Amino acid sequence: MDAVVPSVVPQPVAARLSRAAIFLVVTLATGREAEGAVRKLCADLSGLLRAVGFRDLEGGLSCVFGIGSGAWDRLFGAPRPKELHPFREIRGRHHAVATPGDLLFHIRATRMDLCFELATQIMSRLGNRVTTEDEVHGFGYFDDRDLIGFVDGTENPVGEAAAAATIIGAEDPDFAGGSYVIVQKYLHDLAAWNRVPVAEQERIVGREKLSDIELDEAAKPSYAHNVLTNIVENGEQLEILRDNMPFGDIGKGEFGTYFIGYARSPHRIERMLENMFVGLPPGNYDRLLDFSRAVTGTLFFIPSASFLDAVTPEAAPASAATTPEADRPQQAAPRGDGSLDIGSLRKGVSHE
Ligand code: HEM
Repeated sequence: MDAVVPSVVPQPVAARLSRAAIFLVVTLATGREAEGAVRKLCADLSGLLRAVGFRDLEGGLSCVFGIGSGAWDRLFGAPRPKELHPFREIRGRHHAVATPGDLLFHIRATRMDLCFELATQIMSRLGNRVTTEDEVHGFGYFDDRDLIGFVDGTENPVGEAAAAATIIGAEDPDFAGGSYVIVQKYLHDLAAWNRVPVAEQERIVGREKLSDIELDEAAKPSYAHNVLTNIVENGEQLEILRDNMPFGDIGKGEFGTYFIGYARSPHRIERMLENMFVGLPPGNYDRLLDFSRAVTGTLFFIPSASFLDAVTPEAAPASAATTPEADRPQQAAPRGDGSLDIGSLRKGVSHE
């Protein structure tokens, strides 16, 4: 498959794994005013990020902005990203719930204060036009471990392989440079997990706990996490990019992993979830789920940064079905070469 079309700048999906992150999922109020506020934010986001990030360039502040299926229709109408749909719940041995979410902000930095400041600035722009469905503040835990004690993120693709796994190319030229993301908030029963002997924990994950070395194929059970999430189609391994973060609230006894997985198609993440929750074959499910409950589940499209920069605040369509083509100035039209003719969409709106 082709990699990203060069003239389109993606959002920083493959940003460095960070020590601090905020995951913010919000739903939009009804009405055009809310749509206008989000559209204005789309164009302002890069400027906000520059202003906050400049306060500590070493802090590596980044923000990825995602849009849910229903919100897409309200904000941009047609055309739609080919594979954008609401998160599909899975009822297998365990339940992958689907929960509401119109917008996702995935904010990362080496310092929480940078994340906090950017999230505050974003939310002050949106005000009461959004309702926060879920807000998680994640932290780096020792040597990139999750709260079940295993190093998390080791087998992520890097560099060009990360871009090839996450960034849409020629398969959907209108949305080249975009990406998809699925988020799920997991809560662990740590007391029960810690009663499982380490050797069995290692078989469940498929890696050694202390050294993080992968178990020999012969030693891995068919239900190991890294067996069930290994997806091969037509001889190609379908990779995703994860940036899971631990979070918790000690007083409430809440210990969690925030799962976030980016991919150029949601299909590959959905196959992994199917294997984990239903099992491969059915019944041979992921034992991590006996100790980890998914309490949220939402899918978002990540437009390219070039697309966001070109959004204008005015003229949000009432609905894709009722809005004439001419009233949809915000959609980046693909040129014959597959790139987005962004310059013609700006309508003189400056946000820099
Ligand atoms: C409770 C939630 C989860 C926890 C604690 C968890 C933890 C881990 C750990 C410790 C590893 C091994 C180290 C690594 O390569 O990163 C791993 C690998 C992986 N996980 Fe998860 N994970 C969770 C949920 C998920 C979900 C929901 C998916 C996909 C839908 C997923 C996909 C993967 C993949 C693709 C790998 C790499 C496998 C390989 O190629 O070796 N994980 N995970």
